Amino acid sequence: MNSPRVDELHLQRQIDELAAISEAPPPVVTRILFSEADLQGRAFVKKIATELGLSWRQDAIGNMFARWQVSDSKLPAVATGSHIDAIPNAGRYDGVVGVLGALEAMRALKESGFQPKRSIELIIFTAEEPTRFGIGCLGSRMLGGALSARQAEQLRDQEGNSLAHWRSKGGLQQQDLASVPLKKGHYAAFIELHIEQGPLLEKENIPIGVVEKIAAPSSLRVEVRGIGGHAGAVLMPDRHDALLAGAEIALAVEHAALTSGSPDTVATTGVFRIEPGAVNSVPCRARLEIDLRDTQLSTRDGALKKIEDSVREICAHRDVGFRIEHVNVDAPAICDPQLIDLVSRACAELGLPMKKMISRAYHDSLFMAQICPTTMIFIPCRGGVSHRRE
Ligand code: GLV
Ligand code: MN
Ligand code: MN
Repeated sequence: MNSPRVDELHLQRQIDELAAISEAPPPVVTRILFSEADLQGRAFVKKIATELGLSWRQDAIGNMFARWQVSDSKLPAVATGSHIDAIPNAGRYDGVVGVLGALEAMRALKESGFQPKRSIELIIFTAEEPTRFGIGCLGSRMLGGALSARQAEQLRDQEGNSLAHWRSKGGLQQQDLASVPLKKGHYAAFIELHIEQGPLLEKENIPIGVVEKIAAPSSLRVEVRGIGGHAGAVLMPDRHDALLAGAEIALAVEHAALTSGSPDTVATTGVFRIEPGAVNSVPCRARLEIDLRDTQLSTRDGALKKIEDSVREICAHRDVGFRIEHVNVDAPAICDPQLIDLVSRACAELGLPMKKMISRAYHDSLFMAQICPTTMIFIPCRGGVSHRRE
């Protein structure tokens, strides 16, 4: 066996080609679950995988599996993977590095004459990003058993379209969602390659991060129901303005994070929509989507409670109705010490400086960790920038 050689130029070309498959004009990358661009992106990856001689399967939620099968091995496979969906106005590396990088790694290993002891499987997870249904890691969440088929069937997008509607766009309507979860031990290990999405590796000039823990994410939807009316005719004392209650809620979200007692609590009101959205009409409805995370469950849950209490108080004070929906409230993932050690030793052998890290972003690894030993490999990203076109 020769030593495997990754072809960086070839990999970069593939990353650039995939980036051009976008709902928005380049350099922006937008690929939302089962959009035309997402379907084309999936076909792009499938073509590379089949050219490499990998077998291909897609499950009922659209997770895709490209497998380097070792025919005489009964051992569970080693898996890797990430996602190719992209939030609106994203860049080209989030998720994609872990998918095309894995394919390039398999190409290099095959070319070197390497004979794996176990099958190696690349997983391209469905909708790691929450854009379509408001919930992140849809594919891995179902694989790991954290979202049941029944719960998934209740999902609706902003226009009220069901998961079934979008699954039929993906040609998956005949498959049974209940068949998606994998048993514990299905894989021997899972390792996800991803950009850091933070500034530390670049700042410290360290090429590799090994992830020890993934922060606990949660998200909420808050709907505020006020009373609309004519902007000229409804006098100020008579108003029940949904936007103003929403604005106070967004400030309370910030306050809950700032006063949680942990510097790791972060909270974002990333969606704020009002109705009817006319300059001369008092807003009657506000819909907020709130993302709250922490490395520690106790402070995350404390902040979550503070936000809920604030919604109640603010809406009572302004005499408007409200509804709170918990979209997801997830625990953190602790990565596997043996795998962390393995990656650290590989770095030492290759003479690559490395750093053990916490992932503040969530990843499909959060849910893979529920079924097999898991860790992640981070690489630097310029300026720590992610979820932006740059
Ligand atoms: C994943 O994209 C996240 O929001 O952490
Ligand atoms: Mn992302
Ligand atoms: Mn990602």
